[in-house]
Amino acid sequence: MASDADFMRRAIELAEKHRGRTSPNPIVGCVIVDKSGALIAEGAHKGPGEPHAEIVALQRLGGRAPGATMYTTLEPCMHHGRTPPCAPAVIAAGIARCVVGSEDPIPGHAGGMKALRRAKVKVARALIDECDASNRGWLMWARHRRPAFTLKAAITLDGKIATVAGQSQWITGKPAREDVHRLRSEHDAIMVGVGTVLADDPRLTARRPGARNPVRIIIDSTLRTPSRAKALAKGTRRIIATTDAAPPQRERTLARTGAEIWRFPVRTGGVPLDHLARALAEQGITSVFVEGGGQIHASMLRFALADELVLYVAPMMVGGPSPSWVGGEGVRALDDAHRFRFIETVQIGSDLRIRAVRGE
Ligand SMILES: NC(=O)c1ccc[n+]([C@@H]2O[C@H](COP(=O)([O-])OP(=O)(O)OC[C@H]3O[C@@H](n4cnc5c(N)ncnc54)[C@H](OP(=O)(O)O)[C@@H]3O)[C@@H](O)[C@H]2O)c1
Repeated sequence: MASDADFMRRAIELAEKHRGRTSPNPIVGCVIVDKSGALIAEGAHKGPGEPHAEIVALQRLGGRAPGATMYTTLEPCMHHGRTPPCAPAVIAAGIARCVVGSEDPIPGHAGGMKALRRAKVKVARALIDECDASNRGWLMWARHRRPAFTLKAAITLDGKIATVAGQSQWITGKPAREDVHRLRSEHDAIMVGVGTVLADDPRLTARRPGARNPVRIIIDSTLRTPSRAKALAKGTRRIIATTDAAPPQRERTLARTGAEIWRFPVRTGGVPLDHLARALAEQGITSVFVEGGGQIHASMLRFALADELVLYVAPMMVGGPSPSWVGGEGVRALDDAHRFRFIETVQIGSDLRIRAVRGE
C-alpha cells in the first residue's frame, strides 16, 4: 500500500515538470486518491493565469471527490487573484483529508489549512523539506522579497576557473555543460559580472530543445560592457545593473541594443547587490543563476546572497596563481568562513556535480 510520502513524491514530480515556467508563481503538484487507495486524478500548476494544481486535479473528477484524500505540495490558497481560491473548492468537492507539503508564507494567501480544518477536512503534512526545497526560489521571494541565488562554477580539482594564461574553455566535459543549460532554463535569470563578459563573451542562453531563455543580467558599475557583447543579443530581456558613476553616453549607446540599464547609488565594491536583489524581486524574478566570475561570487558571499552552490569539478589540476572561483579579499579566521551544507554529489560524464546550500 502506497504511503503519504509516496503520493506526495508523485505530486512533487508533477510540479517539477513545470520548473522554470511558473514565476512569479510556485511550482505545485497535486494528486487525489480514493478511499481504496487508488490514485484517481493528478494536476499541476502551469503558470500565472492558469488554474492551480488542486483545481486541475479536481476538474478531472468534475469537481467532486467525496471521501477522497488530496496530496498537494503547497497549502491550498485562500486568495482571490487571477483565479478563485482553492481551499473552498477542496471543501466543496467533499475531500475528506488533505495532505500538505509546504505552508504558504504569503499573508493573504495563507489560511488554507485553517479553513480546511474549520470545515472538518482532516489536514496532515508530508515531505515538508522536499516540498520546500522544490520551491526554494519562490519561498525566498515570498518570505524575504528577494530571489534565491545559485552560484555556479566549473572548476578544477584545485578550485581554479582558468589556467595561468586565462584559458577556461573548457574545464568540464560536454555532459556537465549540457547540465548547465538545463539549470539555466530552470532559473528566471542568469547573472554575470562584466569581467566575465569581457573575458569570455558568453551568450547566457539555455541551448537545449524547447528551453525557455532566462532574463540576462550583467553587473557593470561603469558600463564597460561592449554593445556587441553576445549576452546583449536580442531574444529575452537583458538588464545591465550599473551605478550613478556610469557615463550617460555609454548608457545611451547600450540602451540602443534594447538592454535595460538599471542605475543604483555608487558604493565601494561596485553595484549594491542587495538593492539589485530587491529590484529583481519587484519584477517577479524569483531565482537567479550566478555564473561568475570570482569577483561577483565573492560579493554574493559578502552580501549573504549565496543561497545555493552548484560546482562542476573536473578531474584535472592547473596549479599556479590562476584565479579560483571565489575572489575578493577572503576571511582571516575560520570562524568567519561562509558555511554550507552538501545536499548532493553526482558524477556527470567524467566530472562531479556538487550542490550545497547555506547553513552550518
Ligand atoms: N570556469 C567558470 O565557471 C567561469 C565562470 C565565469 C567566469 N570565469 C572566468 O572568470 C574570469 C572573470 O572573473 P572576474 O572576477 O575577473 O570578473 P567578474 O566577477 O565576472 O566581474 C567582476 C567585475 O564586475 C564589476 N562589479 C560591479 N559591481 C560589482 C560587485 N558588487 N561585486 C563584484 N564585482 C562588481 C567590477 O567591474 P567594474 O568596477 O568595472 O564594474 C568587477 O571588476 C574570467 O577569466 C572568466 O573566464 C570562469
